[in-house]
Order: sequence, then structure tokens, then C-alpha cells
Amino acid sequence: MQLIQGKVIADQIKEEIASEVKELVDMGKKRPHLAAILVGHDGGSETYVAHKVKACEQVGFESSLIRFEDNISEDELLKKVQELNNDDSIDGFIVQLPIPDHISENKVIEAIDPSKDVDGFHPVNLGRMVIGLPSYVSATPSGIIELIRRYNIETSGKHCVIVGRSNIVGKPMSILLGQKTNPGNCTVTLCHSRTKDLPSVTRQADILIAALGAPEFVKEDMVKEGAVVIDVGTTRVPSTETKSGFRLKGDVKFDEVSPKCSYITPVPGGVGPMTIVSLLRNTLLAAKRDVY
Ligand code: GUN
Repeated sequence: MQLIQGKVIADQIKEEIASEVKELVDMGKKRPHLAAILVGHDGGSETYVAHKVKACEQVGFESSLIRFEDNISEDELLKKVQELNNDDSIDGFIVQLPIPDHISENKVIEAIDPSKDVDGFHPVNLGRMVIGLPSYVSATPSGIIELIRRYNIETSGKHCVIVGRSNIVGKPMSILLGQKTNPGNCTVTLCHSRTKDLPSVTRQADILIAALGAPEFVKEDMVKEGAVVIDVGTTRVPSTETKSGFRLKGDVKFDEVSPKCSYITPVPGGVGPMTIVSLLRNTLLAAKRDVY
């Protein structure tokens, strides 16, 4: 079993990005600038956004964090999105999800200018990705693709089973791995809560991607000997062993599944750090106008 060390790869990619930023600055160009909108005080979102801001500093980007309370109206949030769309000093921005229920997530996503949508959530970016046009690809799927690429994991002709059909992970992942690209050329099965006899499907996977957000859902009897297992889960569970009072649990029961795998990602330190560097990469593309 080989551990896929996302943290190590992410650190390498940060160095690559930092040297590209230095080149831009040496040429007299401005530093890439990422803005993040955070609504409310959800613990997970606070942590993710803090990591994103810190990562910007590490590679030499500028960053802006724009905070609103939970009771912000949809109109106010949409107005801020328009402001950022029109602000030439900002190359790309994200609205951290989830947002409160009284605000339409789809309306907010559709209000973002696709050329600044470095999360790749806008329908234009998703549509362009589906037909193979240049686009911002959402950060978690593109981080997983990069891990597969850098570990030279063969995907062509393999059966990839994805558990979870979210717009930001499962659905785009199914398209990317089914595309005629390398990595890609997989036969893809997308599973969800209505899938019948899920273990019989996951046991067919050469590559199993768990992205349902249920801690330790994938057990030993759901995995084929020699499979590649990618764990996207990052559920915060209470813990008396950490200073923060919680720890992150993946969707895979690591101790019992890992001995069967050819490769597996740990949680933390697997997919999570790659998600952040993919966002940095998209922001760099936006600053260089490499997509639009
Ligand atoms: N919430 C969970 N993951 C993400 C992400 O990648 N981007 C945003 N904006 N919100 C999220």
C-alpha cells in the first residue's frame, strides 16, 4: 500500500506557484489577488477560509476576506458579488459554501462573472468543462486529478466508482475521469443514496472515490484488493484529544481499508491540501488571463 501524500504534493505545487508569482512581479505585473466571501460563522467554513487566506500569503498572492453576518439579505450578497465582478484589482473570488438557507446558492453562483469564478461552480465553467473547453475546474476534482497525475496512477480503461453526486465533487469528477484525456478514459459509475446494493458496486472499483460526507462509511468489505482509494470526506467530529476540540474524519475507515489498497489518501493530509492549491492555481490562471 502506498500513501498518497497530498500535503507533500500540495507543498511542491505551492512552491511552483510562488516562483510563477515571482516571475510576474519581476516583470512588473501585479500580484494575483483572490477574494473570499464568508457568510456567518460556521466552524468548518471559518477553518477552510483561514487556510485559503494563509495559502495566498505563502505563494505571494494578495487576498481579501469579506465577512457578512448570517442575516445578510440575498440582495446585499448579490450586490457584493457584482461589486467584485467589476473590481479590476481582484482576479478571482469565491463565495464559501454553505450559505444560509434564505439565500439561493444557485442565484449567487450564477451572479459570479465566469471569468472570475475560480471555484469553477458557475454553469458556464461547468458546461465548458463538460465539452472540453478551457474552464476553471472546481478545486477538489482538479486536485484529485493532479494527485493521480503526479503519482502516475493508470486510469485508462479502469473502472472508477464515485460515491456521492454533489455539484462540487461527485458530478464534475465523473465527467473528468470519463473524458478522453490522461488522466481519464475511465469507465465511470456514479453512486448515490438510491444505489442498490452499494457494496457490490464499490467492490468492482479499480479506483474508488468516496465523496459522500459520512465518516468511515466505506468499510473493508466494500473495497477490492489492490484498489486505489481516494477519500474526499472531511467531517469534523468532536475529540478530546485535540486543542480545537474536534478532528477531521474521512469517508473511509482507513485502518481496515488501507491494507487492501494499492494507493490510498489519508485524512487529513490527502485531498484537502490539494483542494486549496487548485484554487490558487485557478487564481493564477485568472491573473494571467489564461482561461478567458
Ligand atoms: N464549501 C466546501 N468546499 C468548498 C469549495 O471548494 N468552495 C467553496 N466556495 N465552498 C466550499
